[in-house]
Amino acid sequence: MTYEVVVEPTGAVVTVEEGQTLLAAALRQGVWLPFACGHGTCGTCKVQVLEGDCDTGDASPFALLDMEREEGRVLACCALPQSDLVIEADIDVDPDFAGHTVEDYRATVVAIEALSPTIKGITMALDRDMAFQAGQYVNLEIPGLGATRAFSIANPPSRPDTVELHVRRVEGGAGTGWVHDQLQVGDSVALSGPYGQFFVRRSDVKDVIFIAGGSGLSSPESMIADLLERGDERQIHLFQGARCLDELYHRERFEQWAAQHANFHYHPALNEAPSCGSWSGYVGFVHEAAKTHFNGSFAGHKAYLCGPPPMIDAAITALMQGRVFEADIHMEKFLTAA
Ligand code: FES
Repeated sequence: MTYEVVVEPTGAVVTVEEGQTLLAAALRQGVWLPFACGHGTCGTCKVQVLEGDCDTGDASPFALLDMEREEGRVLACCALPQSDLVIEADIDVDPDFAGHTVEDYRATVVAIEALSPTIKGITMALDRDMAFQAGQYVNLEIPGLGATRAFSIANPPSRPDTVELHVRRVEGGAGTGWVHDQLQVGDSVALSGPYGQFFVRRSDVKDVIFIAGGSGLSSPESMIADLLERGDERQIHLFQGARCLDELYHRERFEQWAAQHANFHYHPALNEAPSCGSWSGYVGFVHEAAKTHFNGSFAGHKAYLCGPPPMIDAAITALMQGRVFEADIHMEKFLTAA
């Protein structure tokens, strides 16, 4: 059984299979709807049902209030059509968004590397090319869990047959625990993608600041590689924060890029100074490193933030105090995969 859903105001038509969510069907048919968490908790994907019957599915009562349900609103990421529908969505697509269609892929694990004591690098060969924008993410199916986990793609789009992930072990997390303890080279996995609105706005001429912490480095790494490969002439700054030297992975790679490209500047920051050896980088929080480098003023820059929520909050405060407009700050909020 399938249902036809007309999406107003564009009039796009989506065919939804029985048991498939509205969002899953739309993204797979190249019809973009706003979304973020993908599992009914943030409310970003709220749409109005104008005609027809639709089950609200597993929508959180906090993300979709009783009153909204009574008014015919649903969360597209949970909504299960029960008839043909007409819906209305707030579609405000960024002009730089490529809108690549989401597809399902099989992938074979070809390499696993310990990037740090807590982060593994997983390299997978896809069964066919996946078009994506640097900064986007995939949903990886976790066997036996009946659920997926979101991980940013670390490689640039110039390698569309490959997906590299940086996976930090989350204590007690079933998904990241499986990746760290059970996933082996040669395993076949299922994933879907690309997802997300975290990408470099190309039409903007402002210089670019990336602030990254932990495994939040993956999407900035992809975005910076993409910019450099394209010969982008903006000044690009990467501030990479880590708790200690062992956690500061891919440092040599960024130092090499900085040596090769006059417009790329690498600024590592450690929360604590190493107990042995020399360290010429910044000691302290990564947003403080950025503040110190720019003398507190970030005017004229666009910022991309990816990392733990406290790092993102502190970076937003520092950037806004340093005269960056809210519209010039982009962040990846929902990649706290456990
Ligand atoms: Fe977050 Fe649907 S995308 S609730």
